[in-house]
Amino acid sequence: MSKPRVFVTRAIPDVGLTIITDACDADVWSEDLPPSRGILLERIKGKVGILSLVTDKIDGEVMDSAGDQLKIISNYAVGVDNIDIQEATNRGILVGNTPGILTETTADLTFALLLSAARRIGEGIDYIRGNKWETFKPMELLGRDVHNSTLGIIGMGRIGIEVARRAKGFTMDVIYYDYRGRGELGEAVNAKMCTTIDELFQKADFISLHIPLTVETKHLIDDAAFANMKDTAILINASRGPVVDSDALYDALKSKKIAYAALDVTDPEPIPFSHKLLSLPNCLIVPHVGSATIETRTKMAVMAAENLLKGIRGELPKHIVNPEALKNRD
Ligand code: DGY
Repeated sequence: MSKPRVFVTRAIPDVGLTIITDACDADVWSEDLPPSRGILLERIKGKVGILSLVTDKIDGEVMDSAGDQLKIISNYAVGVDNIDIQEATNRGILVGNTPGILTETTADLTFALLLSAARRIGEGIDYIRGNKWETFKPMELLGRDVHNSTLGIIGMGRIGIEVARRAKGFTMDVIYYDYRGRGELGEAVNAKMCTTIDELFQKADFISLHIPLTVETKHLIDDAAFANMKDTAILINASRGPVVDSDALYDALKSKKIAYAALDVTDPEPIPFSHKLLSLPNCLIVPHVGSATIETRTKMAVMAAENLLKGIRGELPKHIVNPEALKNRD
């Protein structure tokens, strides 16, 4: 019997890839860079499943190019904003993701960004490498205290909660705003809910974003949001780049409307080397590495592979964002 044909858009850790190659006739795109749009449209033809990454835009055109037999899009990520979920659901295609297993790793990275921004670690590294360290100077590279400060978390979901837990270890006051009104989750970590997002902007010393990218959250952090923040505020983004309006962020940092930003994600992504944000000393950027540990990427590979296999067998995988799609399958 012939094996099910799948397209894997990039080499993922072996433990997950082997699960797929053992069970499927797998076309694995193993280049460093993602397949181009043209290649994606071509290679998906006739496949029953695709294992995609955040860098692959999977929309109706891609689904049509695949053909009616496509049963599952298994995303190697918890975020699924690269996929048109509605189009998938309409066609009866399941969309899988990797929730839970990258929560703590992403919270760790968020905290690394927070501490690095507060204590200007990136600038300190540049200072040493630029041969500028002459002596101990009382007024040089002064940052801000993290302990006893106020952290404002936007989005008290899995990752937000873990960031709050870490903050408590630093005796921070944690306040939060959650679109879905998940007050009880914040209470469990002694965080105080803000009734409006502006209240959070006005009170927080650090603002950390933990929300998915949707039509509602695109450019949530814009000129008006910055205008409401303290001028000592430090913004952390480990969610999705377009949640922050990059032009507004640049203006806020340049004019010192806020003090600092530390970003794991950017808009556009990757950020071009010539981008104006990279000219600012008070903006620290790392290249979308929130889940990038050996342990977590390995777990993600296994979970995404298992979602893929279940989906192509017509079963309901454990981690599916649109289980209702099954109703639309013939
Ligand atoms: C995710 O999982 O959504 C990350 O952004 C990539 O690991």
